[in-house]
Amino acid sequence: MKYTLVSSCVALVLLTFGGVDAYPRNKQTKPTKQPTLSVSLKANADYTPNVRASLAKAVAKFTKHSERPVSNSNAGDSGTVSIGVVPVVDYGHDIMYYGIVSIGSPPVDFKINFDTGSSDLWIASTMCSSCTTQTLYNSTQSKTYVKDGRPWSIYYGDGSNASGVLAQDTVVIGNITIANQTIELAQQESSSFAHGVTDGLLGLGFGSITTVDGIKTPFENMISQGLVDSPVFGVYLGKASKKGGGEYTFGGSNPSKYNGTLHTVPVNSSRGYWGVDISNVKVGNTSVASGFDGILDTGTTLLIFTEEIANNVAKAYGATGNGDGTFRIACDTSKFKPLVFTMNGNDFYVPRDSLIFQQDGDYCFAAFAYSSGLNLSILGDVFLKNNYVIFNQEVPSVQIAPSIDQF
Ligand SMILES: *[C@@H]1O[C@H](CO)[C@@H](O)[C@H](O)[C@H]1NC(C)=O
Ligand SMILES: *[C@@H]1O[C@H](CO)[C@@H](O)[C@H](O)[C@H]1NC(C)=O
Ligand SMILES: *[C@@H]1O[C@H](CO)[C@@H](O)[C@H](O)[C@H]1NC(C)=O
Ligand SMILES: *[C@@H]1O[C@H](CO)[C@@H](O)[C@H](O)[C@H]1NC(C)=O
Ligand SMILES: *[C@@H]1O[C@H](CO)[C@@H](O)[C@H](O)[C@H]1NC(C)=O
Ligand SMILES: *[C@@H]1O[C@H](CO)[C@@H](O)[C@H](O)[C@H]1NC(C)=O
Ligand SMILES: *[C@@H]1O[C@H](CO)[C@@H](O)[C@H](O)[C@H]1NC(C)=O
Ligand SMILES: *[C@@H]1O[C@H](CO)[C@@H](O)[C@H](O)[C@H]1NC(C)=O
Repeated sequence: MKYTLVSSCVALVLLTFGGVDAYPRNKQTKPTKQPTLSVSLKANADYTPNVRASLAKAVAKFTKHSERPVSNSNAGDSGTVSIGVVPVVDYGHDIMYYGIVSIGSPPVDFKINFDTGSSDLWIASTMCSSCTTQTLYNSTQSKTYVKDGRPWSIYYGDGSNASGVLAQDTVVIGNITIANQTIELAQQESSSFAHGVTDGLLGLGFGSITTVDGIKTPFENMISQGLVDSPVFGVYLGKASKKGGGEYTFGGSNPSKYNGTLHTVPVNSSRGYWGVDISNVKVGNTSVASGFDGILDTGTTLLIFTEEIANNVAKAYGATGNGDGTFRIACDTSKFKPLVFTMNGNDFYVPRDSLIFQQDGDYCFAAFAYSSGLNLSILGDVFLKNNYVIFNQEVPSVQIAPSIDQF
């Protein structure tokens, strides 16, 4: 969810709730081998999944962005250069995934929550006196810092917020160096963010939902500055129950992280998200819901539906509502059938082991939830850690195949 905040602030939210918080065009390319940025891959055993927090975070996040107007940004063209790979850390048993992004000259490394459900690049700065646990961006120490000065602010539905000023600097993502990237420097963060495990958030949604109009997202700049071979990025999110970790591949994809055939699904980016049309949801072979909109969001931990759909899914698994959007489900999933999403005529699976998100003794919380405040469904990390997705910003569309961690 990144955030509950859905968008930009996703990362922030996590802390608070503990929670949770995702164009084909042909260029001449000159494929090169990508260098790999290395970050240790590990699951954090200290973090306890919290379904309620994850749900609250997602709600807060989307409450903001669902109202924003849409417009389009364009990629430029130019010849291209490479692929950038960023390993990510699986934090808190699949609650959130973050990787290292370097900003400034000389470069400073920041822990950044990658969020396809928002579009801002936001970091803590030395102007923020309450930001105590984070690496702070200090503009006087970067030779490539360029002042902008326009204000930005983000308010989430849960009351958390952050604000500051815009600047420009050099940003390095997996060995891809973006010049003149607009960054949002926080001068103030509410406590959930100020004490979080990440230093900021990197939005991989569309430019139409940046908090300040007209800013290009880092991925849009990678495309317009000719820095990637192709206008796509591949996302592998690992499962803590396997090896954890994960990887974003900018400008390409990594076939060693999926097993099976890639199927294309058209994307509706009119709300700024990676929107997909879900024609059917099945439990095993039994349809429980059909014909609704969803978004692919690496920044949201759970599967979040409208109340009606969630209740149908719950019923099929014998799960009971807790009255707050979460469900209690049996801890023994051995008889469960997989949850199946049909998109563009193909089925994509969430296997039974992923249907429980949190276990407290013999009380298990389902990995799906609802919010009456949201008018769209969110295929968050519960879906994405089972399915490898190649996001194509130009078509736009996605290609999805079973991730190696699905089995
Ligand atoms: C890419 O990353 C590798 C490993 O961190 C590093 O050795 C290499 O110099 C980098 N390449 C470029 C072009 O920045
Ligand atoms: C920022 O960097 C400058 C120059 O190195 C230094 O004087 C200043 O103390 C730093 N600010 C903070 C808050 O660390
Ligand atoms: C970045 O900005 C500088 C100064 O305006 C300009 O000279 C340079 O061409 C820009 N680089 C890119 C890749 O836009
Ligand atoms: C931002 O959040 C803090 C902490 O929750 C709160 O005290 C403050 O009033 C909020 N600011 C705004 C403008 O909402
Ligand atoms: C895309 O989504 C918008 C908003 O949900 C909707 O109005 C529009 O009809 C959709 N476009 C297509 C082609 O489905
Ligand atoms: C769906 O039905 C087919 C044919 O009866 C069966 O082979 C398959 O195992 C079923 N799939 C699931 C997930 O139950
Ligand atoms: C939710 O979206 C659907 C279709 O996009 C629309 O028909 C419905 O009126 C919306 N409901 C609310 C509460 O916004
Ligand atoms: C891919 O799937 C095949 C068939 O199910 C299986 O034999 C193979 O081990 C899988 N490979 C990986 C890397 O999961």
